[in-house]
Amino acid sequence: MGSARIVVIGTGYVGLTTGACLAGLGHQVTCVDVDRVKVARLAAGQVDILEPGLEELVSRGLSSRRLNFVVGSREAVADAQAVFLCVPTPMGAGGAADLRAVEAVIEEISGTVPAGCAVITKSTVPVGTAQRIRALLGRGDVPVVANPEFLREGTAVSDFLNPDRIVVGSEDELAARRVADLYADLAAPSVVTDAASAELVKYAANCFLAMKLSYVNAIAELCERLGADIESVTDGMGYDRRIGRAFLKPGPGWGGSCLPKDTHALVQVAESVGFDFSLLSSAIQENIAQRDRIVAKIAGSVGGTLAGTRIGVLGLAFKAGTNDLRDSPALSVTAMLAAHGAEVTAYDPAVDGDLPGMRIMDDPYQVAKGADGIVVLTEWDEFRRLDWTYFADLMHGDAVVDTRNLLDPQAILNAGLCWLGLGRPRRHARATA
Ligand code: UGA
Repeated sequence: MGSARIVVIGTGYVGLTTGACLAGLGHQVTCVDVDRVKVARLAAGQVDILEPGLEELVSRGLSSRRLNFVVGSREAVADAQAVFLCVPTPMGAGGAADLRAVEAVIEEISGTVPAGCAVITKSTVPVGTAQRIRALLGRGDVPVVANPEFLREGTAVSDFLNPDRIVVGSEDELAARRVADLYADLAAPSVVTDAASAELVKYAANCFLAMKLSYVNAIAELCERLGADIESVTDGMGYDRRIGRAFLKPGPGWGGSCLPKDTHALVQVAESVGFDFSLLSSAIQENIAQRDRIVAKIAGSVGGTLAGTRIGVLGLAFKAGTNDLRDSPALSVTAMLAAHGAEVTAYDPAVDGDLPGMRIMDDPYQVAKGADGIVVLTEWDEFRRLDWTYFADLMHGDAVVDTRNLLDPQAILNAGLCWLGLGRPRRHARATA
């Protein structure tokens, strides 16, 4: 398509990354949102989400005039060659994706989108959505294309610019190829297929990752019971090229705005066509069990009962590099700790303000004061550099539960504290002294 006139509707982390990166690739991009305040801030170059590289890309787009921000999609699409839908598709009742935002946009643009302009779904939408949009649009002259994103929060810009693959699907093959061409400057293979297959690729990939994580968390639990070490087990597994090393780190469970929503949605979609996807349902159950096991581990580390204890939490975001708390396992774990009668204080480098059931501190050492136990729930790199001797001075107890296997156990033992990882042998200062 060369340089195309593109409209991106929705300025969340997917929409804003898509818009800013497409402008960076030389296209003329208009980003649309319904939120006036957000649009005004973005037009002034202010990016409120934590996404490395995004603010620079937005300001470069603004100064080159290849990127602009407006309210309302009806007029914005009038001379577009491609319209990307990047509006939220949250989990609705029963686990299915809630498509009201997508439907509202289609209603708004159906009269103004020009003939030949591709309407492209970017947000994760259920299989069959492209077909539904075609019917809603009621425009035989406007092709609908599914083009799922594979952007991780925290590395969205780099994922966009260095993709493993571009997936596009449509009943109109020419339109699908034109959309693939928008990414021609990126060195990545394209999979051009029908719309339903493209839509399913996204779910199949995210759910596979979720199952991989549930599996590794279960193996970590087995390691503890059998006296094995998960680090060596995953190291040994990772050499197998069919398995790979990525997504083999145990943790307090997988969370965020994508994996939990997409796993539930796929189970639901399977159910709707009479298929009991028990493999995936078990992965979801395992993810809930993982949080329970973490709480039991923390209780065990402070003498068996949480009531009346003080627990200092390091990390609240669902993973490092983001301030996103949506479906964060850390929040479920802290809520359970509080429900069992623990007094919870927490520190996260990207999170401030108040959260129910805990006190948020603005310095990691404040959570150590009088704490019976410390628990690491997000893998922020800065936690590796904490002064554990100072922690030991401030703490009342000696337990450090490291649910990300992030810390150097020896540094903690040297400080006279007890380190408890996941799927790893327990390390106790007194036992090694
Ligand atoms: C996920 C996918 O990785 C992206 O490819 C996809 O585009 C995105 O969803 C989406 O659907 O938009 P994201 O939600 O940003 O990206 O998070 P991930 O990096 O996948 O992490 C998910 C969860 O797994 C986090 O809670 C993380 O802490 C956990 N995790 C990840 C582990 O516990 N261990 C690992 O080894 C890797």
